[in-house]
Amino acid sequence: MISTMYYLLPNLPYPYNGLEPFINAQTVKLHHDAHHLGYIKKLNVALESVQYPKIPLPDLLRNLREVPTSIRQTVRDNAGGFYNHNLYWEELVTAEQNIPEKLGKALKERFGDFESFKNKLIECSMSWVGSGWAWLYLDTQKNLQIGVTINHDNPLMEYCPLQGTPLLTLDLWEHAYYLQYKNDKKAYFDAFFQHIAWTYVEQLYLQAKQE
Ligand SMILES: [Fe+2]
Repeated sequence: MISTMYYLLPNLPYPYNGLEPFINAQTVKLHHDAHHLGYIKKLNVALESVQYPKIPLPDLLRNLREVPTSIRQTVRDNAGGFYNHNLYWEELVTAEQNIPEKLGKALKERFGDFESFKNKLIECSMSWVGSGWAWLYLDTQKNLQIGVTINHDNPLMEYCPLQGTPLLTLDLWEHAYYLQYKNDKKAYFDAFFQHIAWTYVEQLYLQAKQE
């Protein structure tokens, strides 16, 4: 029996069909109940195997060097998968939201205008080969940045080429879109922008600016 003593699967903030037509219920159910849960189960088993101390997930990601080498890669992959999916589900909403003023202003200052920001994120995502995650994040100098990480790496993580605080992420793994969009990644990326919880992203941005 798999223990859930370390981490638990968060509930979705909407029903399985809440993101339609962007993502259909079948994809959301499989993605959340199988893939997302699978990462948490593997992470819990690995941590239990060495009786690792219970610490908050971001601290685990920031301090991977402290994890025993026998389970470090497993923890890197599955703690990353856990964290990234938590953010992905939380940053999505059922209906299109306007971008709040402070975040909108920051995006405009950094990228010129919203369309430029959107196009840059989509271009990064389209040109990425293989599994990974695209990001809007605040780097260690408090600048907004766009980038892509391999597998389940993220900007909080020790070893990751991008360093900073995640604000918005786009799941580039095929399991996120293939049932519905097949090989039309561009359609998935375009539809993603209709369902972003911008008020939530702004909260993360303002919090990260103050840290
Ligand atoms: Fe995923």
